[in-house]
This record gives sequence, structure tokens and C-alpha cells, in this order.
Amino acid sequence: MNMTFVGMGYVGLVNSVILASYNHNIIGFDIDKEKISLLKQGVSTIEEPNLQTLLTEAQHNLRFTSNAKDAIRGSNVIVICVDTPQGKDGEPDLTHFYEVLDEIADNATQNCCIIIRSTVPVGTNRLTKKYLESKCNYRFQVISMPEFLSQGNAVKDTINPSRLVIGVTSPEAEIFAKSLAGIFVNKKVPLLVTTPETAELIKYASNSFLAMKISYINSISRLCDKVDADIDKVALGMSLDPRIGPSFLKAGVGYGGSCFPKDTNGLYWISDDNAVPLDLVKATITENDAQIKYFLDKITKRFKSLNNLKIAVFGVGFKGGTEDVRNSPAIPIVKYLLEKGAYINLYDPLAEENFHKVFSRHTHIAYLDYPQDALKNSDFVIILNDSDEFKKLTADFYIENMKRPIIFDGRNLYKVEDMKGTEYYSIGRPSLKKK
Ligand code: UGA
Repeated sequence: MNMTFVGMGYVGLVNSVILASYNHNIIGFDIDKEKISLLKQGVSTIEEPNLQTLLTEAQHNLRFTSNAKDAIRGSNVIVICVDTPQGKDGEPDLTHFYEVLDEIADNATQNCCIIIRSTVPVGTNRLTKKYLESKCNYRFQVISMPEFLSQGNAVKDTINPSRLVIGVTSPEAEIFAKSLAGIFVNKKVPLLVTTPETAELIKYASNSFLAMKISYINSISRLCDKVDADIDKVALGMSLDPRIGPSFLKAGVGYGGSCFPKDTNGLYWISDDNAVPLDLVKATITENDAQIKYFLDKITKRFKSLNNLKIAVFGVGFKGGTEDVRNSPAIPIVKYLLEKGAYINLYDPLAEENFHKVFSRHTHIAYLDYPQDALKNSDFVIILNDSDEFKKLTADFYIENMKRPIIFDGRNLYKVEDMKGTEYYSIGRPSLKKK
């Protein structure tokens, strides 16, 4: 099958490469010329396990272009994968999405099937059809196919997703959508064919539910600190009930990334716009902000003044294993520490370049190549994501490399009993305090 993917971000690039590896002919389009130039040279523009290998192997089935006419003319299946960032008051910003529709309307040469993989507000599918057909003389079949991949697992999640959800408006579209399912995933993946509105809402409801689990466990973690309970054991005890399950119950400094903050705000905006304001979703957002403040309070209770202190910061990507710092909890945390006059010794080999783009004006941040160098001369260390590299560090490592091993672990990476010999603070668990 021939398909054009519009938007070469996480969703578009990974989908393009995988479908090309299944021997489909794929055109990958993006307006970012630099990105397209690298992709044309066979260089993956995002870090994802196995993506570069697949890209190299499937190159003969892939053609990348930054020319909209070239990408759209002659294509009868166009998959939209552009970002829909958070706009004012949480409203999803569909500027890029509508720019793509304009390019399609201007350049289409035949009737066309549009597949929406971007996260879009409920109702967008039907508006897309109306918009395109009002702007040109062709007919468009619009299919909603929300994406559920998570960064760091993008290839695995795309090849073997938990489910494929397809929203269609007619029985003919349903037949076509079912044939599409076989192209995107293997037959064993559960398939739900439904209306576009339901499909669009499934995406927002899923992300917000996962974010709510995190905010819930984080709020319980604050109670644990008060009543001397242990959040990791509380989460374990809860997760043994199969109705609850273990996932997304890890307490920490809060969720970040390009999806949960945007989609919780987006869902609240959609609900409010429909006069059904979802208070639980609002509380999820508020709790997430509160958790960052709570973590900072722990630090300022221990150090009355942060002025001129040197602080090692481990992990600024929004989660371990990613270079992405969008909405990373590290951003407001580092900002606060700098405002209080601290100096930051930062270590995150994956995400430092993107973090530097956010904090380029700040002279009080040093970017270090080794964790030892970040710890040396630092008054304390804070850990902000769950990188595998940090998980492997031991109490001895901190003891050997710090003047005084004082650790604020914002991701509960270590067992408290393994940290003896250090001063260790984590989330919702007993602290090992200074003697
Ligand atoms: C999320 C969803 O998990 C995907 O299913 C979805 O497709 C994607 O958004 C999207 O909409 O595109 P992602 O943003 O890559 O994926 O990251 P997650 O692994 O879900 O983590 C999100 C945040 O929650 C991270 O900051 C992580 O540290 C935090 N988190 C996660 C916790 O604090 N505790 C947990 O138990 C789990």
C-alpha cells in the first residue's frame, strides 16, 4: 500500500518506518527541512530503541520530503501525525493540524482517505471532512485512529499495541478501516471499531486516567510521610488486587512529557466547553503541581537557604531513557533552585542538550559528562527521573563521591534500607536523617 505520513515526530516517524519495514511504500512529510535532510541521509531524528536499525533496513520503501505538493499529490491515504500542543486555557491548539488540512485541500488530486493519529478534541473528525470538502472538489473519508505509544518504547508499542481503536462514520469506512487494521498491526491485537467521537475521547480518557493514577498515588505519598507509612508498600499492597494492577502507581515528583500535561488540560477544557466540567481531571492537574512544591518543601526544610549552594541534579528528561524535556518536572524545580541563588551541577547525558535550550541564558548551570563530576563539590543531589543508569548507583557511590552524601530522591529509585550511610530523603517513605 502507498501512504503519506504528515509530521515526522515520535508518532509519524515510528509509524512510517514500521510500515515501510512491512513492505509498504511510505512518503514521510515534514515542514522541518533540517529533519527531512537527516532522514534522507538515513539518520533517525529521534532516539528510540531499534528505530535506527529499522530505518536503515526499510530505507528502500521510504521517501522523505518537505515539499507538501510532492507529498500529497497522487496520495490517496494520508495519515496526520502532527502535534496538537496545549493552547490558551488548556484548549488543544490545532494550528498545525489545520495547516495540514489546507495543504491537503490545495494539493489533493483525487478522493482521499485521511487517517487522524494526532490527539484531537472530540468532534474534529467530522469537522475535518466538512473543512476539506468545503475547500476542494474531492471527497474525503476521515478515520480516527488514536495512537497509544509511549516514548522509549515507541517501536515495541507500535508493533504490538495494547489495542487498535478506529473511529469511522459509515459502514463502508468500517470495512476499509478493518483492512487498515491488518496493515498497522497483527491480527492478535484487540480491535475496537467505533464512532469518531468515541475514538477521540478514548485517547483523552486513557491518558487522563493514567495521569490520575499518578496524582492519586502521589497524594497518598504525602499522607504516608505524615503517618509514617511507606508509599511503595502501599502501592504494592494495592496493586496485588488485579482490579487495580501495578502500573502507573509509582510515586515521584509528578508526571511530565508532551502528553499527560497537555491531555489532562485538554480533557478538562473539552469537558468545560461542553458544560460537564470534570473535577477529577482538574484535581489530577492540581495534585501534579502540588507534588513538585511538596518535593521542594522537603529540600527547603533541610536547607534553610539555598543561596550559593551547589546542587547536583540527575535526570532532567521527563522520564528516564528520553532526551525529551517537554513539561519535565525538572524545569520548574531547577528554575526554583536558581531563583534561590543555587548553582546546578547537572548530569543527564541524553537530555542535557534539550535542557540547555530551555536554560541557555543561565550561567549557574554546569553540564557534566560523568555523575561523579556532578557530585563532587555539590552540597546535595536531587534525582528527578528513573533512568536505568541512576537505578544502578549504590549508597557507596554517593558516599565515595560527595563531601556529605545527602540525597533527595524524587523517584524512589533505591530501597531505604540500602541507603544506610547516607542522608536520604525520598517520597512517602521514611527518611535517613543526619545524625
Ligand atoms: C503517554 C502514555 O503512556 C501513552 O500511552 C500515550 O500514547 C502517550 O502518552 C501519548 O499520548 O502520546 P509518555 O508521555 O511517553 O506516554 O510517557 P509515560 O511513560 O506514560 O510517562 C508519563 C509521565 O508519568 C512521566 O513523567 C513519568 O515519569 C510519569 N510516571 C509514570 C510516574 O510519575 N509514575 C508512574 O507510575 C508512571
